Amino acid sequence: MTFSLSRGAAGGPPANGQLWCLPPGFLWGVSTSAFQVEGDDNPSQWTAWEAAGRIKSGDRRNLACDWWRNAECDFDLARDLGLNALRLSVDWARLEPDEGCWSGPAFARYRTMLQALHHRGMRPFVCLHHFCHPLWFERKGGFLAPGADRQFELLARKVVAELGDLCQDWVTFNEPNVYAALGYVLGEFPPGGKGELLNAIRVLSGMGRAHARAYRAIHELQPQAQVGWAHNYVVFEPVASGGKLDRLVASLAAELFNNSFLRVVEEGRLAFPFSLANGNLAQARGTCDFVGLNVYSRFHVAFDTRYASQLFGRIFVPPDVPQGDQGVDNPYGEAYPPALRSAVERASRLRKPIYILENGVPDARDQIRPWLLVNAVRELHALLSEGHDVRGYFHWTLVDNFEWSEGWSLRFGLYALDPKTQQRTARPSAGLYKAMVQQNGLTPDLLEHHGAPPSRG
Ligand code: BGC
Repeated sequence: MTFSLSRGAAGGPPANGQLWCLPPGFLWGVSTSAFQVEGDDNPSQWTAWEAAGRIKSGDRRNLACDWWRNAECDFDLARDLGLNALRLSVDWARLEPDEGCWSGPAFARYRTMLQALHHRGMRPFVCLHHFCHPLWFERKGGFLAPGADRQFELLARKVVAELGDLCQDWVTFNEPNVYAALGYVLGEFPPGGKGELLNAIRVLSGMGRAHARAYRAIHELQPQAQVGWAHNYVVFEPVASGGKLDRLVASLAAELFNNSFLRVVEEGRLAFPFSLANGNLAQARGTCDFVGLNVYSRFHVAFDTRYASQLFGRIFVPPDVPQGDQGVDNPYGEAYPPALRSAVERASRLRKPIYILENGVPDARDQIRPWLLVNAVRELHALLSEGHDVRGYFHWTLVDNFEWSEGWSLRFGLYALDPKTQQRTARPSAGLYKAMVQQNGLTPDLLEHHGAPPSRG
């Protein structure tokens, strides 16, 4: 299905006080994940990673955003912004703390959360795996272990049996490509593997088989369900002065990172030569009802023989591009709204509805976020006008949360959080997002005030 759009031609600015409207029924949301917002005491591999001192900033998650006790406080904020959707994840480690032992109280808490969203007029999108899983599963080898796909299917069956009356939009995995790259090549996520390219490919394949099993199981239990996954898409730009080798390594990075899981679902295989290690993935072909896209950054790529484990690509962020908060050791990435276009154009090849399930910038001082928000909606309007089937935009995120190995150092919230007092303070972007949600689009006024690229410094 494609939407018909009201007023405002794609590309040109809205004229004479007109709106750039998105289609009626467009979903405006925010995205979150369990580990990052719920607070500690979940027996997961991430809790173990944190306890082992692997959070680079040295921060502790403690209460995080205190969702396990009081997510409803943030659901109120989301409702006050006028949102009609919210994406969260369930924490497998809370639901099945020991293999085969399911926690009734954990399911009950998720039920109250989903009910609370419905009461506030928000459609829940529930993700089954957002980087985090039980320690017992990790100890068996995570997604490298034979049988991991069956274990994940059991999780999907149990969650749909318990919560299916409250949710129909399921995200099996968040970003298999990021999970594999950071956990097995860059050493930033548990299990902390570095340069293990072959294992990264095997993990992607294991997740592909797990996704396929979960997709079928969910449909068996809930035929009307919409099932997809959230795919991280990055623009890899060969250096401007670059030659053939720079272009080659940039396209290899894009193939392995951007195209890998898309191909798993599209074709039931990885591209050659990665396909040599993917095992049987045929069952994954065609297993999605929508494509979720998480889109943040552009990286620049240069051929460099010192980076053999990254297929000879040195991946970097030039200093003079729009950027928000710096990471602990590395820059987070260039904030680059046109990445939405590249991501949507690629994902459209699957001919399924598309949801932008994450888009945002770490920006404690809210200097870039308004520009990013306005230009994201400008891109979406143009893409919809060209016939791309984009059905929703979920900003990352509502309230500052615990950013994995970076701890509290990167602030993605429309609301600032003081993790000690749990006080929330609206950043100007919260009001801006609310205005766009209320108008279901963009006005010339908002474009004029926030549309131009931010100045550096
Ligand atoms: C992840 C989130 C993360 C966000 C910002 C996404 O890749 O899904 O969990 O917080 O990026 O880095």
